[in-house]
Amino acid sequence: MCGIVGYHGPRQATDVLLGGLARLEYRGYDSAGIAVIGDYGIALLRRTGKLHHLAEAVSASPVTGTVGIGHTRWATHGRPTEENAHPHADCTGAIAVVHNGIIENYLDLREELAATGHVLRSETDTETVAHLVESYYEGDLAAAVARAVKRLHGSYAIAVVHAGEPGTIVAARQDSPLVIGLGKGETIIASDIPVLLDYTREVLVLEDGDVACVTAAGVVVRGADGAVREPERIHVEWDLAAAEKCGYETFMLKEIHEQPTAIRETLRGRMGADGIIQVSELAMSEAQIAAIDRVLIIACGTSYHAGIVAKTLIEQWARVPVEVDVSSEFRYRDPIIDAATLVVAITQSGETADTLAGVREARKNGAKAFAITNVVGSRITRESDGVIYTHAGPEIGVAATKTFTAQIAAITVLALKIAQARGALEQTRIASIWDEVSRLPETVEAVLCSADDIEACAREYTDVVSSLFLGRGIGVAVAMEGALKLKEISYVHAEAYPAGEMKHGPIALITDEVPVVVVATQGRTYEKVVSNIQEVRARGARVIAVATHGDDEIRKHAEHVLYVPRTSEEVSAIPATIPLQLLAYHIAALRGCNVDQPRNLAKSVTVE
Ligand code: G6P
Repeated sequence: MCGIVGYHGPRQATDVLLGGLARLEYRGYDSAGIAVIGDYGIALLRRTGKLHHLAEAVSASPVTGTVGIGHTRWATHGRPTEENAHPHADCTGAIAVVHNGIIENYLDLREELAATGHVLRSETDTETVAHLVESYYEGDLAAAVARAVKRLHGSYAIAVVHAGEPGTIVAARQDSPLVIGLGKGETIIASDIPVLLDYTREVLVLEDGDVACVTAAGVVVRGADGAVREPERIHVEWDLAAAEKCGYETFMLKEIHEQPTAIRETLRGRMGADGIIQVSELAMSEAQIAAIDRVLIIACGTSYHAGIVAKTLIEQWARVPVEVDVSSEFRYRDPIIDAATLVVAITQSGETADTLAGVREARKNGAKAFAITNVVGSRITRESDGVIYTHAGPEIGVAATKTFTAQIAAITVLALKIAQARGALEQTRIASIWDEVSRLPETVEAVLCSADDIEACAREYTDVVSSLFLGRGIGVAVAMEGALKLKEISYVHAEAYPAGEMKHGPIALITDEVPVVVVATQGRTYEKVVSNIQEVRARGARVIAVATHGDDEIRKHAEHVLYVPRTSEEVSAIPATIPLQLLAYHIAALRGCNVDQPRNLAKSVTVE
């Protein structure tokens, strides 16, 4: 939520800042702004709405200068107005601040600042930071920022400039992401790595409490204790093309089509030549893994749906009880955790505030907590006992697609590992499951080949107001994810239910205007699902079924059938999800919605 960027180097800062903000717009798009240090002090330009409004303002009144900061906002404190847009200035206009996060004690700070004569002009928490820095400034911006951040409670990644120190940007972080790219004679600060890739692949990752001072001489980082320290430096392997649309109309469509690669990369190297599943990231012996007597999964949004798939697989294969919790509930419900509980946090971004808090809670109670994430160096990687990376590459579309199926691939590996260590599955069974799992990239390719049929189906449902998604077993998670995709990008109301539970309420919603999407792939409960389809058809519903190739019978029961290749039930979640991603995508696109940047949403939710 919110993206920040900073530039220090020989180029015109506005070009770099606007380019960087374009790559960060997925983090929020309520307003955008820049502050550039010019010959006559700081030029501040802010506009509400999408970034192009700001870009138009910049081309109407160009701003020159080679040092500056920028921001794209997802509103938390204060409406998305120009006054509330970042950067925020102090009383004198000499200081400008951009911020991602939430200053929890901002009301106390506002009161204190107002009492000492500061005039605050916005409703935001961020503006207090500008005035705090002003009150501590004695000719050294880095020192003033270091003092100011000590007063802040909450989360922040900030970048600060001062007209009196035109060659300096000071950045600091606590619980919000911030990376610094080291180019040749230039430095770029950003919330996320794709911003840096035009300039460099050498990246410094700041720790909580760090304050970084960027000047022409380089970057000096001081830890929370004030001592200079050497931050972690990583070399980014991603290709820049991975962060661009590459001919697709939208990032989401590109990312849907990248799923075979994302799954292949995530599975790579997981099956040893000796038939042993490799998850060295757990840093646990086979005996320790075998001793796990309970698994607790925490996640939000789409990642939560991956957690439900994990429950099915781990319980089925490893015979270990699994609980799945929404992170925001888990952290406040005083969960029962002990050392034999394995806690797994699933988060594509690695920075979801509630999931991070859940991990802290679990570790405080003595459990080991592992993360499944897509972002190298993200916050969760520092807070967990181990990390299993999905290798989906950067996901820019706000609605998760390839990170979801890559999470399921990673979870499949984890479930097999626990099953193998416990001896819960015969080795021959593991080998046959793996055979199917390793063919998943091709299975997904096959589903993607029917994208045109899915678009044709979508054309018949563009006027829908409300819909129901049903499934059983692993199909419940798929139905939940299908419904979430549809509602978040097309704004069509979509409710997901276990098919057997539908008659206890949602069936009352069914009319001929409420289409029902049913996950009806082959499996133990297939016949029951077909009965549920008949129940909704009897009440006038049009049915879209996701079914297994070769199932001609289902055509008698559904208006539309979206076929996926035959797999075992346990491996069906990934292929069955793809048609629902595409269905949501095309309905949204045909309704004229901005699928990459749906209203009110953000890719990573760094607030509670
Ligand atoms: C936001 C995103 C979702 C995502 C959820 C959890 O709501 O829009 O796509 O599923 O956060 O994010 P995480 O990074 O923890 O997986």
